[in-house]
Amino acid sequence: MTFSRTLLLVSLAGLVGLAAGCGPRSDASRTDGAAGRIKLGFLVKQAEEPWFQYEWKGADRAAAQYGFELLKMGVPDGEKTLAAIDSLAANGAAGFVICTPDVRLGPAIVAKAKAAGMKVIAVDDRLVGADGRFLEEVPYLGMSATKIGQLSGATLATEMKRRGWAAADTAACIVTFEELDTARERTDGIIAALKAAGFPADRIYKAPQKTTDIPGSFDAANALLAQKTGVKHWLVAGMNDTATLGAVRATEGNGFKAPDVIGVGINGTDCLDELRKPAPTGFFGSIYASAPTEGFRTAEMLYLWVKEGKMPPLDTRVDGQLITRETFEQVLKAEGIL
Ligand code: GLA
Repeated sequence: MTFSRTLLLVSLAGLVGLAAGCGPRSDASRTDGAAGRIKLGFLVKQAEEPWFQYEWKGADRAAAQYGFELLKMGVPDGEKTLAAIDSLAANGAAGFVICTPDVRLGPAIVAKAKAAGMKVIAVDDRLVGADGRFLEEVPYLGMSATKIGQLSGATLATEMKRRGWAAADTAACIVTFEELDTARERTDGIIAALKAAGFPADRIYKAPQKTTDIPGSFDAANALLAQKTGVKHWLVAGMNDTATLGAVRATEGNGFKAPDVIGVGINGTDCLDELRKPAPTGFFGSIYASAPTEGFRTAEMLYLWVKEGKMPPLDTRVDGQLITRETFEQVLKAEGIL
């Protein structure tokens, strides 16, 4: 059973939170915990993904600024998510921000939080109810998914034109994960923008990924590439950087050279090693959205909700901008990421 491990993780996360915070503030109205500070959780589905690590960094900044204790926990599945919420309650946390591993856990997450008197904010992946509709009463902050997807698709089309590729020699591999709304909105946006730019709809292929990591997108793209012969150039995109990275690796494995592939990711945080490679790969760029800002703002909203009763807006969206090998260092330095 993972209970003791979870407890250990909670205490470790607490230590990290303590180390990152500044000294206790005396004006906290809810003085749970030994340090007399408000405790807030920040639960993420894929703690190994740089996106979420940057989100935590932003939340740490909010904790330092406002003087609350931040409990950061990775929750890769439903069981761990519910156990983590129990642990937060046992630790006297006043609420948590969550990117859940499964949006359909929404009602269970909300019920557990309510039972323990904790406030909840959803980040990135919006919670849904049993009927498949969004739990609109839970404050949410996430990407402007359609818009960001459209920017990815428009980037593919512009770069394809710049390279002078004929549509008849080119196809698009769009790695999809349609069971997640933000992912589907992004890939629908990519496809819509490609069509709007005049790219033939019948040369746009979806490759559904079973898991949202590099092996998952690699397998999905590999299966597609094996079926589609006679393509000279590939446009590659997906819901985030790892979706595109896996598909770019698949093009390489199928003998396509970097100049014949244009891959565009989303996040801009999980592709830094790729963009730093001395020789360009098929990964052209990414639509960067600010993970630290998302982490900071959700943690700040939660703190002000707990401390001052200030209800957060129910739906907040964050925009993105293109970064490439040429521009990423400048943009990410300005953003405070590098
Ligand atoms: C989802 C994805 C992450 C990231 C966030 C951004 O959770 O899995 O990689 O793109 O959305 O909101």
